[in-house]
Amino acid sequence: MPQRPELSAQLHVDGSRLQAEIDQLASLSDTPAPSVTRVLFTPTDMQGRDYVKSLMRDAGLDIVEDAAGNIFGRWHGQAEGAVGTGSHCDAIPHAGKYDGTVGVLGGIAAVRALKDAGFTPNKTIDVIMFTAEEPTRFGIGCSGSRMMGGAVSAEELDALEDEDGITFAQARAGAGYAGELASVELRDDSYQHFVELHIEQGPVLEREAVQIGVVTAIAAPASFKISFHGTGGHAGTVLMPDRKDAMVPAAQLITLAEQLARDSHSDDTVATVGIVEVHPGAINSIPRDVTISFDIRDTDLACREEIVAQILRRAAELAQERDLAHEVEMINADPPAHADEDIQSAVVAACEDASLTYMPLVSRAYHDSLFIARKAPMGMIFVPSKDGISHRPDEYTSTEEMQQGVMVLAATLARLAG
Ligand code: HGY
Ligand code: MN
Ligand code: MN
Repeated sequence: MPQRPELSAQLHVDGSRLQAEIDQLASLSDTPAPSVTRVLFTPTDMQGRDYVKSLMRDAGLDIVEDAAGNIFGRWHGQAEGAVGTGSHCDAIPHAGKYDGTVGVLGGIAAVRALKDAGFTPNKTIDVIMFTAEEPTRFGIGCSGSRMMGGAVSAEELDALEDEDGITFAQARAGAGYAGELASVELRDDSYQHFVELHIEQGPVLEREAVQIGVVTAIAAPASFKISFHGTGGHAGTVLMPDRKDAMVPAAQLITLAEQLARDSHSDDTVATVGIVEVHPGAINSIPRDVTISFDIRDTDLACREEIVAQILRRAAELAQERDLAHEVEMINADPPAHADEDIQSAVVAACEDASLTYMPLVSRAYHDSLFIARKAPMGMIFVPSKDGISHRPDEYTSTEEMQQGVMVLAATLARLAG
């Protein structure tokens, strides 16, 4: 990888402009500040998309959009090949304003800084805003990058329904994305490198007082739903021996999942039940149908699979013991991704040129890079999250920390596309 210390010295990232753009995008939200909610193909998401495209145009990028609604800001190179960067701008309900947006607006800011420094890329550089990294509307994370990575079929993705019964196909067509979804999948040579700038969403960089995280791997996420079906009935008149309560086995599985993750030999094992659906959901009515949604992750795939298997086995036992019907719906079970050594070296060199401290780091959150890694060598650059907070309105990364991340991204892109 050619050394470009002289370029780093010429790079200037306008942090206050980037902060103003982050703040402007955050104002396009379905919940009041400081929270941000921006869900796939809703009016606020469409406003966010228009805003991002205006920034891409302003930076001199040509805009291409694919059938899944992935948006590409293209800086044409002189030669063959392409390098990608980018992230997402959708936000789960009551989230913060930095998750994903730092990688999209920061990617555009990196292009501005490179252009201002007189850099011209040999390879094309794409800044990508991926469709729906969050699972909020259609239940599966990374819809856009999952399709680009060939990790889901077009039929499967298009058939997904939201809670109002609207399919992904109908939602994307309504947003103006009506092409063949299968055309979204990347070729194996679409990108020679892909590098994503993202907030850490964890406490390590801040705790270690290190400025940049050089991601080595992305943990493997699995998510699934388990439903129990009993007979319900009156909370006062149905005596305990006569009940088939669907809530109690669900509660036993929730505590089991936590115990398995806590007892795991792998420090990276995490288990979360973030959604419990109860029918009929009345205080004086015995729960008849209960569905719980699990999110289980680990960098150790075998360990994650063993924990998922134990939860599924116990669910079947509980259903039998309690004479309940039950079903399992697997949503996703993705393998981990390992960052490319060359990209990690380019990030390290960029940090050293900019005299920024850095450390290797595992990403326990998943990202679009997890799926682009199936089609191109992948790397990620982390900047600190205050108190490790994310997916909360008080998520925070300082302007200076974003500026440093963009500096490293710009210098890394210059190395990879130079
Ligand atoms: O859940 C995740 O890891 C990502 O922030 N969507
Ligand atoms: Mn997120
Ligand atoms: Mn994210």
